[in-house]
Amino acid sequence: MRIDILTVLPELLTSPLGESIVKRAQDAGYAEIHIHNLRDYTDDRRRTTDDYPFGGEAGMVMKIEPVYRAIEKLRSERHYDEIIYTSPDGIRYDQHEANRLSTLENIIILCGHYKGIDHRIREHLITREISIGDYVLTGGELAAAVIVDSVVRIIPGAIGDEASALTDCFQDNLLAPPVYTRPAEFNGWRVPDVLLSGNFAEIEKWQEAQALERTQQLRPDLLEKL
Ligand code: ADE
Repeated sequence: MRIDILTVLPELLTSPLGESIVKRAQDAGYAEIHIHNLRDYTDDRRRTTDDYPFGGEAGMVMKIEPVYRAIEKLRSERHYDEIIYTSPDGIRYDQHEANRLSTLENIIILCGHYKGIDHRIREHLITREISIGDYVLTGGELAAAVIVDSVVRIIPGAIGDEASALTDCFQDNLLAPPVYTRPAEFNGWRVPDVLLSGNFAEIEKWQEAQALERTQQLRPDLLEKL
């Protein structure tokens, strides 16, 4: 899978996408991530990517030309399945959408900034608008990092232990059961006996019951989706 990210703040993305599973997935060839600085697609000396809004409201608006040029250049090189814009007024991101994106070949993610982007970009170039939650970030970079991280880790093969991605929280609209490691007792706090029993059928039953109980307690809304 190839992901091209368009941003005015590339440094915000290099670290989150250069560590851990996302790095390993790139090193192993499962994912190719390219970060493009939109300033490289400007044609003025000051490399301007924003301008004052028509109508005179407060705040700056991302200009249409650099975004258009960057997207057109990429589109002249390959087909893109989705051109995503990160914005608080997009559709709410979830595991289902992450799963869907992980099956695509090539995607572009445009990080929003300032007050917003010239709306013609959204009307004519963007195919999907995504919000990572009902709160407002300074820019779309952190949202893009969240999307890329959640997508890349579930590309088949990327995580190594495939079963581990399938048992993630939300994959079946259930929260994951609790996990423990050694020592079996610490400070008088004991790991549940069933996990030490070696009885895998019992362990699985316990894990399913825990997942259901935690979901009922913490996220009953997920059960309504089942
Ligand atoms: N940009 C600013 N806030 C955002 C959010 N909540 N989701 C996606 N992009 C954003």
